[in-house]
Amino acid sequence: MNAFSEQKIERLIKLSQASPSLPDTFIPWEESVEPKDKFIPDFLTSLYDHPLYDSLTATQKVELGKHEVVQVMYSYAWSENLACLFFTKHLLTLDTTSVEHRFLLRELIEEYQHQEMFAKVIKKMNGKPLAPKWFHRWLGKMTANYFPADLMFMSVLAIELIADTYGKILRKDKAVYNVLRKVSELHNIEEGRHIHYTKMWLDRFTQKAGLFKRTIYGMVILLNIYFMRTLYVRKEIFERIGVDDSSQYFKAANKNYSSNFAKYCLDDAISFTKEINAFNPVTRFFWRRILKANV
Ligand SMILES: [Fe+2]
Ligand SMILES: [Fe+2]
Repeated sequence: MNAFSEQKIERLIKLSQASPSLPDTFIPWEESVEPKDKFIPDFLTSLYDHPLYDSLTATQKVELGKHEVVQVMYSYAWSENLACLFFTKHLLTLDTTSVEHRFLLRELIEEYQHQEMFAKVIKKMNGKPLAPKWFHRWLGKMTANYFPADLMFMSVLAIELIADTYGKILRKDKAVYNVLRKVSELHNIEEGRHIHYTKMWLDRFTQKAGLFKRTIYGMVILLNIYFMRTLYVRKEIFERIGVDDSSQYFKAANKNYSSNFAKYCLDDAISFTKEINAFNPVTRFFWRRILKANV
């Protein structure tokens, strides 16, 4: 139960103002990538645990992780930009002195800093991000412009829950490039506040939602996670790391990653979906089918 409380939101605003985690000072940008560094734990790379993974050299495995984490960072920055587009429009509907307006302004400031931080770490790693394809771009812009507020907050929350899971895993792994770990730590701290706020904001909608609305919520969460997941694994990455048949590797990685992703990244999203009672035979069917979720 995350009931909307002005007092709690005032506290979140105060935290964001009094102890901001500024990327320029929080992250040791002067530290360069060392030969021993990894970029992501092996189990989060798309091909991990697949027989083809063993055919990669140690260098190719590290490179695969690097290109994929670049995609992860780039995709978050891009999705955050879409969230900012929606938040900016939503601000116009609010009283400027309200807690909602003031919190969303803090969130916007933080989200813009995150985008700058993600771009900076990608450059530090010499990453070459691949832009989302037309369908992702079209769908992203369409939803940010035309979705009602509750569905947009639900979408933002679904993406944040996944970003947060990645952040928790990355910051804990000491083998990962330290700058990347600190980026993940900062993101974790601030996303924690955003997630808390969004759950409270959504509570008034989820509490009174009937079966139809809950089904919509369950599907919106699922589709956003699927939307994010399909931004990471790209054929070009296998061409870059120099495997013989990049199409074969890409196809295998795409399929393989959906089960790894279900195993390691879905827990928080599933708990929230359960919390708001959005699982029913219909949503469960699609979560199992599309996300391979154990629900
Ligand atoms: Fe963020
Ligand atoms: Fe956020």
